[in-house]
This record gives sequence, C-alpha cells and structure tokens, in this order.
Amino acid sequence: MSSIDDYVLSHIDREGELLEELTRDAHVNLLRPRMIAGHLQGRILKMLCRILRPRRILEIGTYTGYATLCMAEGSADDARIHTIEIDDEMEDFIRKYISRSPYKDKIKIHFGDAMDLIPTLNETFDMVFIDADKRLYSDYYDRVFPCVRSGGLIVADNTLWDGKVVSASPPDKQTRGILNFNDKIKEDTRIEKVILPLRDGLTVIWKK
Ligand SMILES: C[S@@+](CC[C@H](N)C(=O)[O-])C[C@H]1O[C@@H](n2cnc3c(N)ncnc32)[C@H](O)[C@@H]1O
Repeated sequence: MSSIDDYVLSHIDREGELLEELTRDAHVNLLRPRMIAGHLQGRILKMLCRILRPRRILEIGTYTGYATLCMAEGSADDARIHTIEIDDEMEDFIRKYISRSPYKDKIKIHFGDAMDLIPTLNETFDMVFIDADKRLYSDYYDRVFPCVRSGGLIVADNTLWDGKVVSASPPDKQTRGILNFNDKIKEDTRIEKVILPLRDGLTVIWKK
C-alpha cells in the first residue's frame, strides 16, 4: 500500500471493530480475501447510502458480507438489502458476521446464481452494487436494469480490472467481460455514468 493510501485511510472514518475482525478472519481463513471491498470502498458505499437514502438495495456477489454491512450501516432504518451469493460454502462465514451487526434485520441473504434470482426478487431497486463474476457484468446489468427505478444508482466494482482494460496483451475472459461492460455503459443513452479511478475502478451509473 502506498503512503498516500495509508494517509487516506488514516484520515477517513474507521471501519469499526466488526469489519476489522471480519477482515482479519478472511485473511487467515479464506482463499481470496482481496475480493473484500475493504476500508475505503466500504466507507464510500456507506456514504453513498447516507446521501441517497436508498430503501431497496441489491448486491450481486456477497462473498464475506463486508460491503453488505457497509451499505446496511449507511442506509435508513426501514431499508432492505438483498445480497446474492452463488457459493453456499460462504454461508457460515457470512452469517457469523451479519448476525452480530446491529443492522442485521435490514439484510436478506440469497444463495444461488444472481442471473436466476434477480427476476424472482420482485423489487424495484434504488441502488444496485454489481460485484460478482467479471465475465458476466453485461448480463447482470441487462438483467437488473429493468428492476432499477428511474433516478436509481448502479455501482459496479473492478471496472479497471487491475489496469488490464488498457493492457496491450490479448484480454483473458474476465478482462473481456469488463471491457464489454465498459463499452456497453459508454454507449447507453438511458444513463449517466462516471468511472472513479479508485482502487480497482468503481463505475457509478445513474438511471435517467
Ligand atoms: C468480489 S466478491 C464480492 C465482494 C463483496 N461484494 C464485497 O465487496 O465485500 C465476488 C463474489 O461473487 C460471487 N459470485 C460469482 N458469480 C456469481 C453469481 N452469478 N451470482 C451470485 N454470486 C456470484 C463469488 O462467489 C464471490 O463470492
């Protein structure tokens, strides 16, 4: 981590004990702890929820529940957060932390493929966080778009994919998925969009 990253993290709100413990646990016991949103992005998601006050939120790709907990922290008391995770082996880990959160009642966890589950949720979302299989970003987007209200927000993580979006070498499947998504977003006139070049790239999309 660069000294500017250190400086930023030491001058923003702390994550809190539960999320710090979750992060330590993930680094000791999980294979890919780098997938966790982390301190800065978690605080950004919380801040977006503070500003927008979304009442219906969807997260595609729960992993540990870190980002879920951040969005729960920032949203109103009557908000509901649906989070979808395909890997049911994560269930014990996810429940271990969500059950200890004061915001646990806002969170509904679904296990299964988001592509199948999104149409069954029967919700209109104020905010969607796309953070699952990079090869399927365009598919998640198409699937979820009709379920987002006009004026709602879609936030997509990893849209610079470790800089591979500008790499000269032929793209692997995940990079190709992100490139397709970014090209689709660029041409979509139903939205306004900006890519925040923080961490691995965070695209913020506003549905007109
Ligand atoms: C980057 S991690 C999510 C991190 C989490 N959102 C956070 O910020 O802390 C991606 C997760 O998406 C899950 N996933 C992949 N494909 C999926 C799908 N089609 N439906 C639901 N979850 C999926 C993976 O199993 C993995 O746990």
